[in-house]
Amino acid sequence: MCRVIAVANQKGGCGKTATSINLGVGLVKLGQRVLAIDLDPQGHLTLGLGFPKNLRVTLKNMMENIIMGIEFDPREAVLHHAEGLDVVPSNKLLTGMDMSLISVEEREMVLKEYLDLLRDEYDYILIDCMPSLGMLTINAMTAADSVLIPMQPQFYAADGLTELLKVIKGIKQRFNPELAIEGILFTMDASRYNNAKRNKQAVRSAYGEQMHIFENSIPRSEAIAEIASEGVSIFAYDKRGKGAASYGKLAEEVLHRA
Ligand SMILES: Nc1ncnc2c1ncn2[C@@H]1O[C@H](COP(=O)(O)OP(=O)(O)OP(=O)(O)O)[C@@H](O)[C@H]1O
Ligand SMILES: [Mg+2]
Repeated sequence: MCRVIAVANQKGGCGKTATSINLGVGLVKLGQRVLAIDLDPQGHLTLGLGFPKNLRVTLKNMMENIIMGIEFDPREAVLHHAEGLDVVPSNKLLTGMDMSLISVEEREMVLKEYLDLLRDEYDYILIDCMPSLGMLTINAMTAADSVLIPMQPQFYAADGLTELLKVIKGIKQRFNPELAIEGILFTMDASRYNNAKRNKQAVRSAYGEQMHIFENSIPRSEAIAEIASEGVSIFAYDKRGKGAASYGKLAEEVLHRA
């Protein structure tokens, strides 16, 4: 059965895209069929996997087809990455979607309707969300079985969590009663510094009873920062490094939690 995971946090630059790519390839390495959805008009997942920014067929077209109720091939937008991950790309043309959804009936359901056409073919669908809690992110959470929350262990990192949890709760009540929290994942972790340790501890004591917090955190790593321009995952770029090891462990943890 397919599990749809929204990788979301309205805070910018906390590692959502890096996690979508590397957890995705990590799961492929464990024999899973994985589709990654780029739900961000910045198109960083698309570009980060080496696809061009001016693609003609993207997620936007697929969502428009759903909105207009026309028959279409849901695989038309699906790209195949050399490392075995499938991708539905996006680019800046997705920018208008947040606004155009406003006038659509059942506007929260559009992405879910699209993914329902694909989910039989995959074990995991990972949705790389944009840094906002707008209509696209609401679509992701309505389509998802769970939300994975990447978070840098900074002093203020947990501030936005209250708001994020409120949105998740609202979506559970109104559109998606089964929505779960996959967990909080610490990213860009520099645990050798005491403040990172302290901040992780603070998040654990504030939220550890309500939700899962991944054992394994993702270290700050030059190699992870570098792959964005290389079009590959950390497993292809630096397979013996600590970045690959940590995303590999995360993939196992996600697989075994299911
Ligand atoms: N573990 C890491 N170590 C070092 N750099 C990282 C790590 N993870 C991500 N980065 C870098 O930090 C920046 C932000 O990461 P990323 O794009 O994954 O965040 P994001 O949450 O998707 O951002 P946005 O909110 O803009 O979508 C990128 O330049 C990325 O290459
Ligand atoms: Mg991103």
